[in-house]
Amino acid sequence: MTTEIVKKLNTPFKKEVYEGLTSDLKYLSSKYIYDKKGDKLFQDIMAMPSYYLTDCEFEILSLHTEEIAALFEEKEGFDLIELGAGDGKKTKVLLKHLVAKNADFVYKPIDISQNAIDDLTKTLAQEIPNLAVDAEKGEYFEVLDRLKQFNARKKVIVVLGSNMGNLLHPRAIEFLTQLKDTMNKGDLLFMGLDQKKNPQTIIDAYNDPEGITAAFNKNLLHRINSELGGNFNPENFKHWEVYDPETGTAKSFLVATEAQEVTIEAIDLTINFRQWETIHTEISQKYDDEIVHWLASASGLKIATDFTDSKAYYKNYVFTK
Ligand SMILES: C[S@@+](CC[C@H](N)C(=O)[O-])C[C@H]1O[C@@H](n2cnc3c(N)ncnc32)[C@H](O)[C@@H]1O
Repeated sequence: MTTEIVKKLNTPFKKEVYEGLTSDLKYLSSKYIYDKKGDKLFQDIMAMPSYYLTDCEFEILSLHTEEIAALFEEKEGFDLIELGAGDGKKTKVLLKHLVAKNADFVYKPIDISQNAIDDLTKTLAQEIPNLAVDAEKGEYFEVLDRLKQFNARKKVIVVLGSNMGNLLHPRAIEFLTQLKDTMNKGDLLFMGLDQKKNPQTIIDAYNDPEGITAAFNKNLLHRINSELGGNFNPENFKHWEVYDPETGTAKSFLVATEAQEVTIEAIDLTINFRQWETIHTEISQKYDDEIVHWLASASGLKIATDFTDSKAYYKNYVFTK
């Protein structure tokens, strides 16, 4: 890489796009799907019956609101920090309950999407006006270190929507280890993780015939076009989903349907795609108790309890240090 190029890679987005698209097997990170358009497409995905994850987690949080809130509550007050909060649809069930009980807490949602943070702040002010909110735009790994500052009172860290499933196991262990390092005795990590199940059910969740998931995946190319001066033609790429029932890993790809050249001005890059060449864009890892126990022990965490839905498709785990 020349010093000229290094100078141009002055944001994480530019740097990661350059690295991913110059790799032998091309890849882009799904965290860059989320902007105003990507956030709306994800809400549309959550509304699809085939995307069972949202309904299952909503059921768990609705049926066990009291029990979960009781685990969170602390006489001396607590901080409720949510990583990758999105539109907070499911968290609001817990937040409404806690506010109704006059619980002493501050809700701190963190998300990489400024649009998600702005929308969430607005809807919370309308729907739960008495809630103390301290929202922040941020990337998981960037904010983890700063979470250590929240050590004056109990900390409850919430990660819903199987967000950790976007990380392969070694990275997930780093994530959990760093979370553990921010935690003190008595702090909790409350995390939703999608479970292994009939592979067809999983494939259907990421492969809707209406093409909403395809549009969501292709938003990566639209963002590169609008923010980095790219000239991708998203029509020349096909959304493709695979699920490996052995490893529990679902993977999304964008597959070039024809040979093409793409340039990205902001990072001085010209890329040649062969016909049927792939860009790997997302992983959505599926878990079972054995894997979660292994991840927890490899990260120095303990599973205190868990909650599941009526179909046992999804689980919310409570981890302690
Ligand atoms: C699958 S959505 C789930 C949203 C929400 N937790 C839910 O369950 O509905 C993932 C959310 O995490 C955010 N996100 C993805 N990668 C992130 C990262 N590396 N750092 C911070 N936020 C991230 C996205 O912007 C998005 O709002």
